[in-house]
Amino acid sequence: MSRRPANGSRPISRGFGPRYLHSCGQLHKGGPDGGVFLFITADHDDLPVPRFPLGFGAVQEAQAVADMEELTARGGPRYAASTGGHLHNLLKVGYDKYIAIFVWTSQDMHALIVVAHPDPASLTHAIATQVAQGITGSEPRHSFEIADLAAEAFDPRFTQADVALHLRTAAPSPDVAAEHARIDRADALVLVYPVHWWSFPGLLKGWIDRVFTNGWAYDAGPDGKLLKKLQRLQVHLIASGGADMRTYARHGYFGAMKTQIDHGIFGYCGARVATSELLVASDAGFPASHLDAAHAIGKRIFPLPQ
Ligand SMILES: Cc1cc2nc3c(=O)[nH]c(=O)nc-3n(C[C@H](O)[C@H](O)[C@H](O)COP(=O)(O)O)c2cc1C
Repeated sequence: MSRRPANGSRPISRGFGPRYLHSCGQLHKGGPDGGVFLFITADHDDLPVPRFPLGFGAVQEAQAVADMEELTARGGPRYAASTGGHLHNLLKVGYDKYIAIFVWTSQDMHALIVVAHPDPASLTHAIATQVAQGITGSEPRHSFEIADLAAEAFDPRFTQADVALHLRTAAPSPDVAAEHARIDRADALVLVYPVHWWSFPGLLKGWIDRVFTNGWAYDAGPDGKLLKKLQRLQVHLIASGGADMRTYARHGYFGAMKTQIDHGIFGYCGARVATSELLVASDAGFPASHLDAAHAIGKRIFPLPQ
């Protein structure tokens, strides 16, 4: 933390979290009213805390929120700034003004919702629609694109061209390049699918096989070092299954799916799986409860001030 005069008048202190907390408390919480406080927080990939439901990012955010709550209680103008979605939590605490960085950072967000089901009247499609409505319902400026793999006739077959791409001896074929482009445009990737044989349907597996390629999703260097290239992407997985949860639990099927899909695929590429939901037909209130759950997931994908 440093202190220096601004234009020869009021002192300014600045500090970097989390170490600023102690100094901030000493200097300002116990000091005179009338301070102007600007908190800048940043969204980042959260680091998990072993055996704890919250990551370090949540702890960091909680520190900023608690500090602002305390300062707010003491009056004076309060300013908030954030480089990402954490701002909505700070705003709940109550501020008088937002500075320009807010405008700059509250950009419209875009989700790609990938649906793997041939029947537009299926529950899977209805779930995808609810997710989409939840996204725009939380903030109309947010946008989504539904990638209906069956209707678009995405070809899941892994061909010689895909082998060449994997070996880095050829460029992506046009259909794969198009998928790369639309994932690149998205801030969040949402996969909605029925469980088929305790995993993805083949169509979606083929999409992953062909699209999450060496060189784009990850870089497997010759030195054996893995570069995870999808760290900016947040992923939401919504599966629906016909079997009941006891069956899933008895055989460890859901755990196996998480290992394979959440960890094995997205973890490998560095993408953070923010939602991993299994909705089953035996759930209370089925099927309406699934649609409600999907809508709620959509609403939380890009949280904003309430
Ligand atoms: C080929 C096939 C395999 C299936 N395998 C499973 C399974 O392994 N576990 C399960 O819970 N449900 C399984 N189901 C049931 C579907 O997951 C269920 O019908 C689906 O979630 C219902 O949603 P929908 O109306 O969108 O198809 C399977 C269905 C089909 C057609």
